[in-house]
Amino acid sequence: MSHPLSAVSQMLERNQALFEGKSLLVCGALEDDYPRELAGIARELMVFTTDYSYFLTQQEALGERIHFGHELGGETRFDALLLLLPKAKAEARFLLAMVTPLLHAGADIFLAGDNNGGINGADKLIAPYAGKPVKRDSARRCSLYHGELCEPVAPFSLEEWFSQYQCQIGDTQLTIQALPGVFSASELDLGSKMLLANLPAMSGSLLDFGCGAGVIGSVLAKRNPNLDITMVDINALALESSRRTLAANGLTAQVLASDVYSALPGRFDRIVSNPPFHAGLKTHYAATETFLAEAPRHLAHHGTLTIVANLFLRYQPILEASFTRTEIRAADTKFRVYRSSL
Ligand SMILES: C[S@@+](CC[C@H](N)C(=O)[O-])C[C@H]1O[C@@H](n2cnc3c(N)ncnc32)[C@H](O)[C@@H]1O
Repeated sequence: MSHPLSAVSQMLERNQALFEGKSLLVCGALEDDYPRELAGIARELMVFTTDYSYFLTQQEALGERIHFGHELGGETRFDALLLLLPKAKAEARFLLAMVTPLLHAGADIFLAGDNNGGINGADKLIAPYAGKPVKRDSARRCSLYHGELCEPVAPFSLEEWFSQYQCQIGDTQLTIQALPGVFSASELDLGSKMLLANLPAMSGSLLDFGCGAGVIGSVLAKRNPNLDITMVDINALALESSRRTLAANGLTAQVLASDVYSALPGRFDRIVSNPPFHAGLKTHYAATETFLAEAPRHLAHHGTLTIVANLFLRYQPILEASFTRTEIRAADTKFRVYRSSL
């Protein structure tokens, strides 16, 4: 599937002389096929993404020039960086700290994004590396800032970027560790808390869909030592956070990158989730609709799906169309916990 160029990429397209002949590193909020165009313009290209779905769509065209993960290291050095401003500023800071050590002295640093995503003012993010950045262009409600790497950068240490907090969920005490921008990175979500308060003791196999910092899977692993748990997320920073949360609590589970069920051929006795719902990001609704509608094909014969959702999300009709039985197990003024069975 090809992705029409975003407004940001259309603005970049008319500035592409800036990238000609460079060894270029591209990262941040990637959402279209523009990096493929850059592959024909730059001398060398590396695209770094934390989004597994984006990686899957570009892997064939870009081959080894795209890397999915929570960290980019290696010996290659670049003479230009193009950062597409991510939604969370904390993630932008994290990416800059990670990739600026991979730049040559004097390298170009480009920052692009749209006005709604807060690009104007975001030049402050590159100021620590590039002195006073200048605005190179602005079009289609987007802007492009440019600076040059003016000082040597400290080596990146992933450890310094984890936040940590303790939480008590019923009888279960847990340490959560999370990288910037990951859901529940600084406190437990009330929806997830309600979901966990409404799950019985379990055995067999369980899928924690959209595991984030690993709260749900880790609580269930602690409560149910015989449960065989698989945790999936699309976001590499979430996956690494889940691995850290499990390790910090002495727990084990399988942690996998998956775009909805893309990496999951098998069936589970239970699926649990606080599914993605970010308002304004259409793809997240689409992912959740697919997740719910296709759940029966990933459940064993007597399997159940239990989710928590904000009241305004209209998941009940999808659940009722896909499952024989759907009940509301808990509700308050903000959330509902649904349990569906085949
Ligand atoms: C509402 S958060 C829940 C996080 C965690 N389970 C909790 O309760 O704190 C939803 C998670 O779904 C992930 N997600 C979004 N789209 C996805 C997809 N297509 N496939 C897998 N996970 C996805 C997001 O990265 C996010 O971590």
